[in-house]
Amino acid sequence: MKEHITIIGAGNLTMSILEAIKRSRAKFTINVVDIDKKKSSQLKKFGVKLNTTYDDKISKSKFILLIVKPKDYVQALKSIDPYVNSQTIILSFIAGISVNQIEKLLTADVNIVRCMTNLAISERQSYMFYFMNKGSKKVIDKINKFLLTFSVTKKCSEENHINKLTALYGSGPAYYIFFNSIIKKSFEQMGFNKKESDSYTHSLMLDSSELLGISDSQYLLKAIASKGGTTEAALSQLKKDKVDLSVRRAVQQAYKKSKKILSK
Ligand SMILES: NC(=O)c1ccc[n+]([C@@H]2O[C@H](COP(=O)([O-])OP(=O)(O)OC[C@H]3O[C@@H](n4cnc5c(N)ncnc54)[C@H](OP(=O)(O)O)[C@@H]3O)[C@@H](O)[C@H]2O)c1
Repeated sequence: MKEHITIIGAGNLTMSILEAIKRSRAKFTINVVDIDKKKSSQLKKFGVKLNTTYDDKISKSKFILLIVKPKDYVQALKSIDPYVNSQTIILSFIAGISVNQIEKLLTADVNIVRCMTNLAISERQSYMFYFMNKGSKKVIDKINKFLLTFSVTKKCSEENHINKLTALYGSGPAYYIFFNSIIKKSFEQMGFNKKESDSYTHSLMLDSSELLGISDSQYLLKAIASKGGTTEAALSQLKKDKVDLSVRRAVQQAYKKSKKILSK
């Protein structure tokens, strides 16, 4: 019999995870619940139907993936509370909401797991980090078996690692994409038209990430930046402008936010 899972929230991350599950060819019966019925069209390609109400299908689920924004977590948990029991395993992907905050809103003693990945999981087997306070070997085995079907799974020893990984791995694609848009703007400023700039940037970024897949970054930097050359001139300006410091400060801001997500 196919394993039954429920996903709460049919947004960006859910679509990426559904893509990863589809690619893995693992067969699950998937129930997706979202308050917005317009989301149903995006689910069609996964052969999944959308439910706009919470019902008994949730009780049959071995795993409930909680994938709503932090501001919506209280409402979502109140809605699933009548359908969960001590056998249920809740995997929360919500940035910054602790196991303790989730536990407090549930009547039953449910297994709660915090997870973190990023949107790139739609494209390849990305990391799936998870943390759980307590949990029998049997429960941990079930979690590993499920997550390993569509990710590279890594158990964290401390909950705070999930906050750090939220800042670096969850938000990470945005840092890369931000840099991508700076390069694209630079092509445009040098007089290339929009179409050319798009295409050249795309090729540059994808090909460079392929290079990183086969060689060490320090080795690559040395190979590209010859002494007295153009790359060396650019890198030395980046160092002078302390770009590394800016990036590290940006990551620290994300980390700070991940520990106090609902504060203004
Ligand atoms: N996006 C990422 O790159 C990423 C990466 C790592 C972790 N995460 C985490 O994943 C979570 C979801 O992010 P996302 O970008 O996928 O958000 P999203 O696109 O806004 O998706 C959330 C969905 O949940 C729906 N929703 C809100 N309240 C609900 C409720 N009570 N019951 C059922 N559905 C409800 C929303 O509907 P409405 O739009 O109508 O409100 C929306 O369709 C966040 O907590 C975030 O921290 C995201």
